[in-house]
Amino acid sequence: MSEENQPYQINEQGHVAIGGVDTLDLAKQFGTPLVAYDVSAIRNQIHHFQSVFEDNHVSYEVSYASKAFASIAMFQVINEEGGHIDVVSGGELYTAIKAGFPMERVSFHGNNKSAAELEMAVDNHVGVIMLDNFHEIEVLQSILHEKQATINVMLRVTPGISAHTHEYDQTGQVDSKFGFDIQSGQAFEALEKVLTIDSMNMLGIHAHIGSQIFEVNGFEMAAKKLIDTLAEWKSKNGYEAKVLNVGGGFGIRYTESDDPIAPEQFVDAIVKTVKAESAERMLTTPAIWIEPGRSIVGPAGYNLYTVGSRKDVPGIEPYVTVDGGMGDNIRPALYQADYEAVLASDPTKKPDETVRVAGKYCESGDILIKNQPLPATHPGDVLVMLATGAYGYAMASNYNRNPRPAVVFCENGEAKLVIKRETFADLVARDLTI
Ligand SMILES: Cc1ncc(COP(=O)(O)O)c(C=O)c1O
Repeated sequence: MSEENQPYQINEQGHVAIGGVDTLDLAKQFGTPLVAYDVSAIRNQIHHFQSVFEDNHVSYEVSYASKAFASIAMFQVINEEGGHIDVVSGGELYTAIKAGFPMERVSFHGNNKSAAELEMAVDNHVGVIMLDNFHEIEVLQSILHEKQATINVMLRVTPGISAHTHEYDQTGQVDSKFGFDIQSGQAFEALEKVLTIDSMNMLGIHAHIGSQIFEVNGFEMAAKKLIDTLAEWKSKNGYEAKVLNVGGGFGIRYTESDDPIAPEQFVDAIVKTVKAESAERMLTTPAIWIEPGRSIVGPAGYNLYTVGSRKDVPGIEPYVTVDGGMGDNIRPALYQADYEAVLASDPTKKPDETVRVAGKYCESGDILIKNQPLPATHPGDVLVMLATGAYGYAMASNYNRNPRPAVVFCENGEAKLVIKRETFADLVARDLTI
């Protein structure tokens, strides 16, 4: 395994390090549970994506799907790397505004954007609105009319490609709540409608076929289907798309049993398919946009927990309980997501037992890891859970009125607090008395 592909770094003391910072020091300085990101890993992944496009000589945008983890600091890093972002709510858009993120590099997604959210997007001149349904076309049209404004739009379509992955993560198939269906002609109907609206500048087509995908052929099929669709649109009404956005979904390593190809290899296959298919269908190759979320922040993020109580019942795998759980990472409870954890002080120490790493929340399903081989652990030991950077903190809650953890960015041996730990006072800040 190359150094870059190793799921964690080990420092001279033999401890797990993140961005050159010792995880035991992080736990001591910031407390646990803690979310820590290796910022160089985020930057490197963006560069890897960018290089694929540069090498293939195509116009492109790498649009970070910020639902995976959105914060002011995160948006500042994406801005420094020249990336786009995709937002799906007024809250994510507000965060981008507060980060000083250039609005022309923002795409606004969502299957039920409110009129207020659409107005906010128009007022802030976001780069493109991803139109998802006929109702939205009407609402946006009237907002643009009222404000005498214009905006770039793209049509989100469902190409009917169902990627091989967990059911909850599939969004590309015909039976989906997202986007316009191609097969039944809805997508073409939407195109015709949009082309009659002068205040909308139709940039192109978007599809997202699923998440945590390991096989490249789903993306190739989707790219081919989208080019076929563009060729059909061109022959039917002369419309030629400038942009083809193939979404995200590139699978990452969560545990030893995952063996994905590098995320940029998916993109290389997509780009080559789009170029070849465009040439064959006599289309100018459109700019190719991707929207990776998980592959940019997932492997770069780690959750640090402190071990507390333990329960042993003869004949049953022990429970080792940590000071966090489903409130800071709901993925194991929500869709049986698998993770790995290591002992911060000695990650390669021979395991003595296989345990369940349990959370502290009042739900039997709050088990972070079902079968984790570990050396003997003691209260106060720090565990580092790997690859927690995507859809972990982003889905965090205050269940049981637990404060959400702090988030730190680690880079070149320095740790910077980028989201403060919530306090008990924060938890009651919006409560009113009777
Ligand atoms: C439209 C769209 N783009 C991009 C993504 C990001 O997917 P991933 O984080 O798997 O790369 C999603 C995830 O749900 C999405 O719905």
